[in-house]
Amino acid sequence: MLMEYVTLETLLTDSIARKHLPKAGYYHAVSSAENAFELAMERGVCVDLATKSGLLHDIGHTNWENQGEWDYESYNEFDIHTIKGAERAHELLILKGEGLGKARCMALAILFHSNSSPVNDNVQLTPLQKLVSDADDLGKEEDGAHHNIEIEFSEAVQRIRRLDMLVYHHIRNDQLNCKDCEFKSECKLQDGGSNGT
Ligand SMILES: [Fe+2]
Ligand SMILES: [Fe+2]
Repeated sequence: MLMEYVTLETLLTDSIARKHLPKAGYYHAVSSAENAFELAMERGVCVDLATKSGLLHDIGHTNWENQGEWDYESYNEFDIHTIKGAERAHELLILKGEGLGKARCMALAILFHSNSSPVNDNVQLTPLQKLVSDADDLGKEEDGAHHNIEIEFSEAVQRIRRLDMLVYHHIRNDQLNCKDCEFKSECKLQDGGSNGT
């Protein structure tokens, strides 16, 4: 794998992700990244952007408790996790060396992944933004139960490594969809990228 390429594993194992992803759960983060990969393959959306956005989409979650109990109703009404998540994911992506255009694109997909804050009212979603929202919805359970499903961090890493390989092989072997990519010049997985091999 190319050394300069920012992998899902690099993101998952960073201290920013280790601090914030557990609040919405590693299970939901990894499952959403896996769902995003499948949807990206079906829809011809970039699997690199889709899986990273899927993995980080809920990095903006916070503990939202009322008298020691998770208050899902209030959270649904008032939380701003999409806004916090866009900022946190952007910081993490830039820190790891992601291209600036790609980082902004993924931050916006995270900002618009849910209408829990009305930031996406009257917004025409791009294919990536719609995909991240759909990947999230695929794993949703009543009253946010999907956030309470627990897996070991080691299992999350194993699954994300597998996904890294699938993303890598897909982009390196099947670049038809990359031809007109607006981030071609900064993508380190494409042959046309400035750091491609
Ligand atoms: Fe969310
Ligand atoms: Fe989510």
